[in-house]
Amino acid sequence: MRERLEALRTEALQELAGVSGLPELNELRVKYLGKKGALTEILRGMGGLSAEERPVIGQVGNEVRAAIEEVIGRKQEEFQQAETEARLREETIDVTLPGRTSAAGALHPLSKVIQEIEDIFIGMGYTVEEGPEVEQDYYNFEALNLPKNHPARDMQDSFYITEDILMRTHTSPVQVRTMERKKGEVPVKIICPGKVYRRDDDDATHSHVFTQIEGLVIDRNIRMSDLKGTLLQFVREMFGPNTQIRMRPSFFPFTEPSAEVDVSCFGCGGHGCRICKQTGWLEILGSGMVHPRVLEMAGYDPSEYSGFAFGMGVERIAMLKYGVDDIRHFYTNDLRFLRQFARV
Ligand code: PHE
Repeated sequence: MRERLEALRTEALQELAGVSGLPELNELRVKYLGKKGALTEILRGMGGLSAEERPVIGQVGNEVRAAIEEVIGRKQEEFQQAETEARLREETIDVTLPGRTSAAGALHPLSKVIQEIEDIFIGMGYTVEEGPEVEQDYYNFEALNLPKNHPARDMQDSFYITEDILMRTHTSPVQVRTMERKKGEVPVKIICPGKVYRRDDDDATHSHVFTQIEGLVIDRNIRMSDLKGTLLQFVREMFGPNTQIRMRPSFFPFTEPSAEVDVSCFGCGGHGCRICKQTGWLEILGSGMVHPRVLEMAGYDPSEYSGFAFGMGVERIAMLKYGVDDIRHFYTNDLRFLRQFARV
């Protein structure tokens, strides 16, 4: 029996030396040490041994088992370690790789300026109104006291769709629509942002599509001083607390009296520089007291109510504020231009 046990040890150790992986190792463990394995098989014959032989052979059997177990344990550790190392190698993370950035969009500079202007007027109690870009002649001209023979109604100046329908040339029709809807109710206190269309040749300062924001206030006892105070408050929030305004007599068919409004140049504080072409002033908007005819046509009794209105080009404000030298930059969507405003 001793020889058989020794032979088993030799055979087992030889076979274990050539084992190639964990599954095979497990097979050999069962083959030699399992309940129905070779060692158990041999030791089953111990019953036929004498009382003196039995402990000696038992001792040899234990040694053989210990020797085989020792090798199996060592091999198992080796294989497990190799497996862990292989997994680590495979799952290595290169922390020096540049991260994946998600491309976040940003608001268009014109949208930003519109929002900024809206915020200022909302802070003064105004609401924002919008209206159609394809407009009826009545709202764009007629109700604004622009008579049929007015040059602005010429085919050369406006985009007509039919004789009665055109692309709006300003956002004033939204004011007419709002007054109509209010049916004589006061106060009216609105601003109207939106695109407008004119048959201009595009150049650095003209575009056949551009953006306006107009404002309208109607109530009892609204005076020109209210207009001036409102605009002063607006420009100081927009361009800085030391900004001054200057009103120059002007003409619009829908306001009387009318005034062009200049702001003191924020580039030089009014001393004269390149931005203001040495004049110290920048023209930014048109304004005036709503014409009695306009009030009347919209259902407001001009002997009881009065109002003021103003209108500005958003592109012009944005160009002045950000030092943009060509209006076409706003529409050509060159990312090199747009990205400069992503964090403004
Ligand atoms: N609607 C005028 C324009 O388009 C601007 C304006 C609005 C002027 C309100 C005076 C009052 O030029």
